[in-house]
Amino acid sequence: MSTPPIDQAHDAGHDEPVDENLPARDDLFANPGLEEHHWRPTDVDPKAEKRAERQVAALFALSALCTIGLLVAYVTIDSDDTVGDLGAQNLAFGLLLAGALLGIGIGIIQWARKLMADVEMVEYRHSAASSEEDRAATVQALADGLEESGIGRRPLVRNSLLGAVGLLGLPAIVFLRDLGPTNAQVVKNPPFIGSGLEHTVWKKGMRVVRDVVGTPIKASDLQIGDLVNAEPEALFNGGEDGEPLEGVALQVAKSKGAVVVVRMQPDEITPGKGRENWTVDGIICYSKICTHVGCPISLYERTTHHLLCPCHQSTFDLADSARVVFGPAARPLPQLALEVDSEGYLTAQADFDEPVGPSYWERG
Ligand code: FES
Repeated sequence: MSTPPIDQAHDAGHDEPVDENLPARDDLFANPGLEEHHWRPTDVDPKAEKRAERQVAALFALSALCTIGLLVAYVTIDSDDTVGDLGAQNLAFGLLLAGALLGIGIGIIQWARKLMADVEMVEYRHSAASSEEDRAATVQALADGLEESGIGRRPLVRNSLLGAVGLLGLPAIVFLRDLGPTNAQVVKNPPFIGSGLEHTVWKKGMRVVRDVVGTPIKASDLQIGDLVNAEPEALFNGGEDGEPLEGVALQVAKSKGAVVVVRMQPDEITPGKGRENWTVDGIICYSKICTHVGCPISLYERTTHHLLCPCHQSTFDLADSARVVFGPAARPLPQLALEVDSEGYLTAQADFDEPVGPSYWERG
């Protein structure tokens, strides 16, 4: 009996009989071998090599310019400027940051394609565990790779890459400024009604209207147990000057002015100190923005008057000044003082008497 080919014996396993009639694997699959190696222009032409080196450096320089442009945009473009419906500053940040990252990314790809060593090698696959020799060989291969990348021999490429990557860290430092105190000038002269962190678009006499459709709410329309998602009328009828709100002003007004209006039995309400006349026949109104990290809330349990935030389960007691009864929120929901106008529609008595939403640095 003849000995089976080693490949067949291995594939069949120790317990399986080997079919002696099968041809050896090498007879089934011809080894295609390696294709002829073609040298790149940069391997054989010093001029092409120099040109490629300059291209790579130019990409890294472009990245550096975009990063500097990003810093300039931060200082020179007003955060309220818009391009169409987009914030001009955010648009500039996005484009310039993309340019900075792409410059470095494409530069590195070109460097690898055109300048790094172009040798073909065969890599044998073995079981997962590597021997000491293999690990030593890997470390050596890494060292060789570094050597072959030419980073030591090409100071132009190396320095332009270091410059581009180093500059990328600067925007992170500059943007940290936005976590600092609010610009005093903006607080004193807000660019539009309701801008800044302290105020919203609500003001005395502004009607409370239904979310999305914008229809005003009559006090007599609400039943005990109702909860209505609402917005300030200015979102639909325009700001102080009657001009429609749009762009950033509209988004700010919408995000900070959102409220929930609920009706309960008047004697179920425990009014906060000084808030005895902030409700209308058991109709009470609170900011819809969670004081934890700002999720919009409207999961209402009418028998307990609890409002649950879906994000981290903070729960507020709407019958008791929106006191926090559970969860991570640290403050009650701000209450909007209500009254009715001559036609019986719900209106605000004034803006909120405290900032809405999550806490921030200077909030008292
Ligand atoms: S945002 Fe409401 S609980 Fe976290």
